[in-house]
Amino acid sequence: MGASSKPSRNLALELVRVTEAAALMAAHFMGRDDKEAADQAAVDAMRYLLNSVEMEATVIIGEGEKDEAPMLFNGEVLGKGGGLQLDLAVDPIDGTRPLAQGRPNSIATVAAAPAGTMYDPGPFVYMDKIAVGPGAKGAINIEWPVEANLNAIARALGKRMRDLTVIILDRPRHADLVARIRKAGPRIRFIDDGDVAAALMTSWPDSGIDVLLGVGGTPEGVIAACALSAMGGEIQGKLFARNEGEKQKGIEMGYDFDKVITMDDLVSSDDVFFAATGITDGELMDGVRYHSNGATTESIVVRGETGTVRFIESRHSFEKLETISDLPY
Ligand code: FBP
Repeated sequence: MGASSKPSRNLALELVRVTEAAALMAAHFMGRDDKEAADQAAVDAMRYLLNSVEMEATVIIGEGEKDEAPMLFNGEVLGKGGGLQLDLAVDPIDGTRPLAQGRPNSIATVAAAPAGTMYDPGPFVYMDKIAVGPGAKGAINIEWPVEANLNAIARALGKRMRDLTVIILDRPRHADLVARIRKAGPRIRFIDDGDVAAALMTSWPDSGIDVLLGVGGTPEGVIAACALSAMGGEIQGKLFARNEGEKQKGIEMGYDFDKVITMDDLVSSDDVFFAATGITDGELMDGVRYHSNGATTESIVVRGETGTVRFIESRHSFEKLETISDLPY
């Protein structure tokens, strides 16, 4: 066996400590109707833990610009230094609203890839997306009418159209799209928030979800691309302008709203790392469960180079953590 084939460092196993800490800190705010405080707690925990990892990572995808929430800033350099030079995409809470309202589907998530390989969407917060799992990879094209994509996915998966399941954010902007999907035949699962987990579900065995469609966050698109590229799925997108002014600004900055953003554009390396931890209960992961002096978390950890997907249940002792950490568990 050559040296190059020896197992190497799996950074995702270190990143999961980051998403666990963000989830543990954010989950205290479930149902308290305080999005800002929850975001701040998750951001502080992520920054603190990311700075303990041996790497030099530049935040390409921070969060919060959409609603001016506390965030890790684009261009911020994190990590303890050392060998790995990375791009970082973070979403300390994907699903701030459901967390604040005490509802399901809120997660903490992070993705990393070699420096210079992640898509930088600039200030453009929305992206039209189509995401599928390994069975329909290569069968989709965001430029096609939605009916053509649904037919192609059904064919690739060997399913009847009426049995195909689309997941989509429940938003007024999707009214026309929903009408066309209904006419074409598939079933629809609506979600209130959280399209990173929704994208993941397309590639998760037995989730029952075949395709994610519709407009969601651009940061979430880049993070989902890292996970899906490692899990063998596919996502394509197109930047989506909220109004003419935003479109004009984009064109002046050199962005093309008609350009198809492929998975390779979103993250051009296979050497990606992804971690996510449930904050409130979701279909893939349970949320944080507190007990007498600690809590339990559930996480998904993915590494692109090997394609290994891990599901990790962790039991945390606050008493012990507080002796080594500045975070107020
Ligand atoms: P945040 O909690 O990070 O703000 O995002 C929640 C979310 O539902 C994303 O999963 C999704 O991509 C985006 O918001 C959709 O945006 P909007 O709520 O403005 O339609």
